[in-house]
Amino acid sequence: MRKKIVAGNWKMNLTKNEGLLLVEGVLNGVGDTDTKVILGVPFPFISDTVSMVEGSPVSVAAQNCHQEKSGAFTGEVSVDMLKSFGVEYCIVGHSERRQYFGETDRFVNHKIELLLDAGIQPIYCCGETLEQRQDGGHLQVIEEQIQSALQGFTKDQLKQIIVAYEPVWAIGTGETATPEQAQEIHSFIRKKLAQVMADEAEDVSILYGGSVKPDNAKELFAQKDIDGGLIGGASLNAPDFLEIIHSF
Ligand code: 13P
Repeated sequence: MRKKIVAGNWKMNLTKNEGLLLVEGVLNGVGDTDTKVILGVPFPFISDTVSMVEGSPVSVAAQNCHQEKSGAFTGEVSVDMLKSFGVEYCIVGHSERRQYFGETDRFVNHKIELLLDAGIQPIYCCGETLEQRQDGGHLQVIEEQIQSALQGFTKDQLKQIIVAYEPVWAIGTGETATPEQAQEIHSFIRKKLAQVMADEAEDVSILYGGSVKPDNAKELFAQKDIDGGLIGGASLNAPDFLEIIHSF
């Protein structure tokens, strides 16, 4: 049985007090749930958030890590640093990092390797742009992303990875993929994973991200291959985020 997961990605939003209040709001409302709840917080919030969520069903994700183990990379944060602060998950390959920071699937592949070695679960993001979808090349884009980012890993390693399908055209735009569009890609991703993992691809959680809101989460999460969501804007507001968590 694969895990149902709802992960927030705060991106570069909120200051300390706003962020800690939001964590408190989520902790107060999350209740007894079998959905794994993850908060993707900015680096400076990690230490406090990890302490606050201890003993709750909520875990902490970093939004990025560096692809080298350590060294002269001013301003960067390593996987070992994240591990030493108790981080359990890390988002990699987000389209904003690809677009604004030149992140490629080759870098992402290195990041995933370091994360897996450290026992941190990668949340690997993939997704096509509007142009690629309009050209009809979206399946090929997803296939290439998955193949290059996930190449070289064993079945057991792949089982540790969470995949997030985030069509770039749906991120922060208010335009969501329809449940059918999302399901098509999720099932395609699972088929690609099955080429390496066989039946064990059934155990990989594949999340949808892109304008998930309380009013569309239920229908998206009801799709066979959609195992939860990676939530941006709606994760900045505790009641909305909680409603999404409880949409399963
Ligand atoms: P929105 O939910 O704001 O569209 O963001 C999605 C996202 O990028 C999550 O990583």
